[in-house]
Amino acid sequence: MVLSSSANAGAEGAVRDGLTVIKEKCVGCHIPEGENAFSRISHQRKTPEGWLMTVGRMQVMRGLSITDEDKRAVVKYLADKQGLAPSETEGMRYAMERRLNTVKEFEEPFSQMCTRCHTGARVALQRRPSKEWEHLINFHLGQFPSLEYQAQARDRDWFPIALNKILPELSSRYALDNPAWEKWLSLAPKADALVGDWSFSAHMPGKGELAGVMSVSADGSDIFKVSVKGQYADGSPFNGDGSAILYTGYEWRGNVTIDGVTMRQVFATQGKAMQGRMFEAKHDERGLDFIAAKQGSQRLLAVQPGYVKVGSETEVTLIGSGLAGKPDFGRGVEVVEVVEQSPERIKVKLKAAANAQPGVRNVTVGTLKGPSLSVYSKIDAVKVVPEFSVARVGEGGGSTPKVQGRFDAEAWGKGADGKPYRIGVFPAQWKVEPYDERAKEDGDVKFAGTMQADAGVFIPGDAGPNPARKMSTNNAGNLKVIAAVDDEGKSLTGEGHMIVTVQRWNNPPIP
Ligand code: HEC
Ligand code: HEC
Repeated sequence: MVLSSSANAGAEGAVRDGLTVIKEKCVGCHIPEGENAFSRISHQRKTPEGWLMTVGRMQVMRGLSITDEDKRAVVKYLADKQGLAPSETEGMRYAMERRLNTVKEFEEPFSQMCTRCHTGARVALQRRPSKEWEHLINFHLGQFPSLEYQAQARDRDWFPIALNKILPELSSRYALDNPAWEKWLSLAPKADALVGDWSFSAHMPGKGELAGVMSVSADGSDIFKVSVKGQYADGSPFNGDGSAILYTGYEWRGNVTIDGVTMRQVFATQGKAMQGRMFEAKHDERGLDFIAAKQGSQRLLAVQPGYVKVGSETEVTLIGSGLAGKPDFGRGVEVVEVVEQSPERIKVKLKAAANAQPGVRNVTVGTLKGPSLSVYSKIDAVKVVPEFSVARVGEGGGSTPKVQGRFDAEAWGKGADGKPYRIGVFPAQWKVEPYDERAKEDGDVKFAGTMQADAGVFIPGDAGPNPARKMSTNNAGNLKVIAAVDDEGKSLTGEGHMIVTVQRWNNPPIP
């Protein structure tokens, strides 16, 4: 069975209305409850990806037979009618944005009870009345009875704890009725407000900063044509075309082909701003943080690069929309020359005085503010970001691609108050080392993959057993990730931790 694995596919268009499909396809099992309401279905709210997963389960586990086109129509209808308000997704968007190295702490007992098989976000991105949360807990035990024997369950009575402790918590924290949702339904802007040109700024780990323009034109109701023209700081182009669909009045899901590679856009629109992540469809680890402002609006998005060294001159570019006037970079930083100026970008040559105080300055252009500039005299520490990550073997005759490790080296300074502050991402020299004795003995560095020394990109080894390894084990590994940043002849290093493990066989829209 083929499951379309992303809510981004919706832009290909739905021919039939979702409600019509539900009335035809779902009522065999879900009882109609009056006008356009159905048992179970009408008592939950969730994200487009959440709805996609539920309908996917109806196919795989319940025997629902539905075309991809009809499925898209159902997901669109339900996400619009029973979605989440923007505020209800706050702090949990990492799951939809597929930031799979996110480590998020949840409270006990919820964390051990509910976040050992999937993210806590899968739970927090749903709203239900108590009865529906109860059905969900029952479904878990009924569908996966062995969960009681697994770690973090066999040491306790999982089911009674779920019903007595977790259920009341879920019912009050993630209740179906929420004024924020009612309010969103009445206030949500019309989708055509998104049509126009958007100025964007982005950052791709292992590659750097970029900026450009994304042009959006209408291609049906809640469907758009998208064209992107951008450039990395190193001059390489970032151009492409595609389409996007808007769910719930703000959940932007795009498919844009950049240089022959399909990338997904998972953004939240906020009036004349958009923010989220854009990543390769086949390699969600290869992605960039993206922020955009509609041209004609007034917004300062970013300063690239966001740092300057005391006593030195450097060129920085401000990205935004409606930029006018001379930018201000705070005490001790002077604009030597405006190199280029348009409403979307201002390129200036800056000079930081030799006696400028190290620290973070707020950057302003007229009344616009937001981004900051870090002034530093020396780098105090280097951090590898992400600090902990998971790469995965792949290919080797199999169809699952490798999951790369992609890293940034973040330089940190120490302010006059002794407090550390982030300077920014610096070029670094990268290598991996065994994480512990075991990894050393097993030759993990040799087998697990290759670190690109200049880029901080780690390409894991091939999948499958490796006869050259002890007991023909696979190319898994446990590695330190080391970045060395040069600060005027002085090398500073930072260290992260990467596990290279097997393929992710189960890769649902909400991990
Ligand atoms: C062949 C029977 C069958 C069909 C057809 C079917 N469902 Fe279901 N559905 C079930 C069963 C059984 C459950 C309860 C177990 C579960 O959650 O998987 C369920 C549960 C649900 C739930 C609650 C899930 C949860 O997490 O609590 C939703 C929502 C739902 N179905 C939506 C749909 C939609 C939408 C359709 C039509 C596109 C559909 N179903 C078609 C059998 C079906
Ligand atoms: C044994 C592993 C396991 C544990 C423990 C677990 N889950 Fe799940 N959960 C799953 C799986 C697997 C699915 C996906 C089912 C599907 O849709 O195919 C899922 C799906 C879900 C969904 C989405 C259902 C939908 O269709 O909308 C929610 C919400 C959820 N779990 C909440 C919880 C909560 C709350 C707990 C703790 C009480 C919990 N899970 C504990 C494995 C687990």
